[in-house]
Amino acid sequence: MEKTLLDYLQRILTARVYDVAIESPLEMAPKLSTRLSNQIWLKREDTQPVFSFKLRGAYNKMSRLSSAELKRGVVCASAGNHAQGVALSAQRLGCRAVIVMPVTTPKLKSDAVRTLGGEIVFHGESYSDAHSHAAEIAQRDHLVFVHPFDDPDVIAGQGTIGMEILRQHQHPIHSVFVAIGGGGLISGVAAYIKAVRPEVRVIGVQMADSDAMVRSVKAGKRVPLSDVGLFSDGTAVKYVGEETFRITRELVDDFVVVNTDAVCAAIKDAFEDTRSILEPAGAIGIAGMKKYIAEHQIQGESMIAITCGANMNFDRLRFVAERAEAGEDREALFAVTIPETKGSFKQLCETVGQRRITEFCYRLSGQDDAHVLVGLATENRSDSEDITRAFASRGFECVNLVNDELSKEHVRYMVGGRSPSIQNERIYRFEFPERPGVLIRFLSCMNPDWNISLFHYRNHGADYGRILVGIQVQQFEQTAFDDFVTELGYPCVEETQNPAYQLFLR
Ligand SMILES: Cc1ncc(COP(=O)(O)O)c(C=O)c1O
Repeated sequence: MEKTLLDYLQRILTARVYDVAIESPLEMAPKLSTRLSNQIWLKREDTQPVFSFKLRGAYNKMSRLSSAELKRGVVCASAGNHAQGVALSAQRLGCRAVIVMPVTTPKLKSDAVRTLGGEIVFHGESYSDAHSHAAEIAQRDHLVFVHPFDDPDVIAGQGTIGMEILRQHQHPIHSVFVAIGGGGLISGVAAYIKAVRPEVRVIGVQMADSDAMVRSVKAGKRVPLSDVGLFSDGTAVKYVGEETFRITRELVDDFVVVNTDAVCAAIKDAFEDTRSILEPAGAIGIAGMKKYIAEHQIQGESMIAITCGANMNFDRLRFVAERAEAGEDREALFAVTIPETKGSFKQLCETVGQRRITEFCYRLSGQDDAHVLVGLATENRSDSEDITRAFASRGFECVNLVNDELSKEHVRYMVGGRSPSIQNERIYRFEFPERPGVLIRFLSCMNPDWNISLFHYRNHGADYGRILVGIQVQQFEQTAFDDFVTELGYPCVEETQNPAYQLFLR
């Protein structure tokens, strides 16, 4: 590895990136620092000209091509950020760039590529589909294929971030947190840091639903994933690179895996300190850092997270804002039962007191009791238990829904939709990768004799699609229905017995 380190050190020190990239600032994050009792620094790669670090690797690779190669042009496959890096580099170098993008690419990213003069070809649903098609084009049209991560020149370009960090922060550093997709960014950063200041830990962070590198390192060989979550589209890679795997396995000290809610909370953290909005992949480093600090009870150290991208579709912000609260335990939902008598609604409000209400759904039911969905801002997880006790002490029956996915995702938007006379209704919550046509596939697989009695779906612009379906299934058809659910193959949970469904929708 020593030879590799020396080779990469030379490549990084001589990398050509500053024709297109800036030396991004390393900024202290005062609010996060106070909250986490450490000095938190953010390496602001989201402030690059194309709002991600990707132009470093792309330009370093492309600026080394021969004039004959540049004359023919380049091709790449990318879900967005690498594409922008390649398109910008091609513009600077005056060459043609064909960019193959999966059809699921956020519009913001494809628009940006088009503006930079890239020739876009949409192909396939995943990065892997786009990659195969780009390889075919490269061969057919004699274009140079610019890999998004598995290329020493691309890795060295990204490695200049490690070089800048060590120059910008000459005091002790505990750890540097780096998002991993295919592994190009972390390979470059780790190669430089381990060559120059090996005592600084380099920690890789991945999403729980696209953790190909973590699995590969554990298995000791590259493990392909059959499916990847698309919420963090910048890191949605099914199969890590050969070279990036070799370097990561050798040099990276530890790994952290984070979930969607934690990344949304990290986007909010970054916003509070910088007033900038990161894309999910860009905030993974912060989410991983928070988890690592909590797990290892670290205090008083200097910790650095690379905020590596800010290409966020605006319509995803609603989802991020909602989930950020859940990711930080800042909101809790309750189903509170009150008697339908004069004054009891007021009494309920008095119990809530000065707490900030995030949601309050109530509908007169004409029965003895009414059920109210109450959303309240909380400080931490134990808060919701205190609130439940407070309701109980005033004589209100209360179900704490803080961990209830059905309520957080659907019921809160459906209160009032009761149907007490409905017969044989079964309720299911399905989850599927958000892709064009998937909803139709679901509906067309169903026996047309089964009546849909309830359907709730919200498009979040990304992540997994979630639907809640009520279906009337006669007693004699139950087995056929269970087979349909199994065959469909999407993760699903039967919610027919869920108290939130019973209270608000029956
Ligand atoms: C914003 C962002 N973060 C992280 C990554 C992951 O980089 P790598 O594939 O080199 O691991 C990417 C890759 O495109 C990205 O766009």
